[in-house]
Amino acid sequence: MDADLVAVLRCPVCGDALALSGRTASCPRRHSYDLAKQGYLNLLPSASTGIDGDSAAMIGARTVFLGGGHYTPIRDAVIRQSTAYDGLRVAGEELVVEVGSGTGYYLAGVVGATAGRRGIALDVSRYAARRAAKVDPRIGSVVCDAWRELPLLDSSAQLMLNVFAPRNAAEMARVLAPGGRLLVVTPNQEHLAELVGVLGLVKVDEEKERRLQDSLAGRFDQVGSEIVESAMRLDRTAIEQLVLMTPSARHLNHRELAARIAVLPQPAVVTLSVTLSTWRIA
Ligand SMILES: C[S@@+](CC[C@H](N)C(=O)[O-])C[C@H]1O[C@@H](n2cnc3c(N)ncnc32)[C@H](O)[C@@H]1O
Ligand SMILES: [Zn+2]
Repeated sequence: MDADLVAVLRCPVCGDALALSGRTASCPRRHSYDLAKQGYLNLLPSASTGIDGDSAAMIGARTVFLGGGHYTPIRDAVIRQSTAYDGLRVAGEELVVEVGSGTGYYLAGVVGATAGRRGIALDVSRYAARRAAKVDPRIGSVVCDAWRELPLLDSSAQLMLNVFAPRNAAEMARVLAPGGRLLVVTPNQEHLAELVGVLGLVKVDEEKERRLQDSLAGRFDQVGSEIVESAMRLDRTAIEQLVLMTPSARHLNHRELAARIAVLPQPAVVTLSVTLSTWRIA
């Protein structure tokens, strides 16, 4: 990770700015953090245990599934929205922060869409952080817990992304520059509906829309919303990867899952339906 990316980060212990020297990021009070050999920076306080985020297997499945292009309509919509507002360039640059970035699939698309963008990928999973560290040299990858203080300076981001990921409204509002935009992707009831019952997947919460509004209300104003839909044609391998990359993977027996997938048509037509909403600081 480059020194200019480390310069937007703050120390998780004291909140002072971090600076990179060699392969160590440190604050003026000498709290220091070594870059992992895979290129990411771990800024999770050592007291944080028990929050692991996505496992190696889930991140591996996510990489394969997203690489198949099935969620391209979501990525394209996020990229389109990211370039649809005038932006807030500072010295010709724009910092994009993704919270719960997984493999960095969406962030890489947005950073690559326009010259002058850089990105910070935040995820609590080390396996996710390893992937995101390699996805684009303009992206710095950081391990942190999105439910605690984000390790970024106040008003440092001109754009923030949150795609199927935890939302800490207070911290996202602190990090987003006034006039910047937050793009949020949430699944609709219809999303993957053909698979949910048959495969025993975790259902989309019926209250999801209300919960989204509640979680951001007061700190953010919604300035746009669009539904992104498509009919995906998924073969057995793609369906398996799709299941294995979700939290459902944790409570499904693999043999049982394979048996249930075997009775689905080949390929199965599966609905993609998400809402992409755009927010700015209230
Ligand atoms: C459903 S995945 C979405 C990943 C990515 N945005 C995508 O759509 O490909 C949710 C991500 O949030 C991360 N995550 C879960 N809890 C977190 C937390 N407390 N802090 C930061 N990241 C977290 C997981 O490790 C996982 O990578
Ligand atoms: Zn410090």
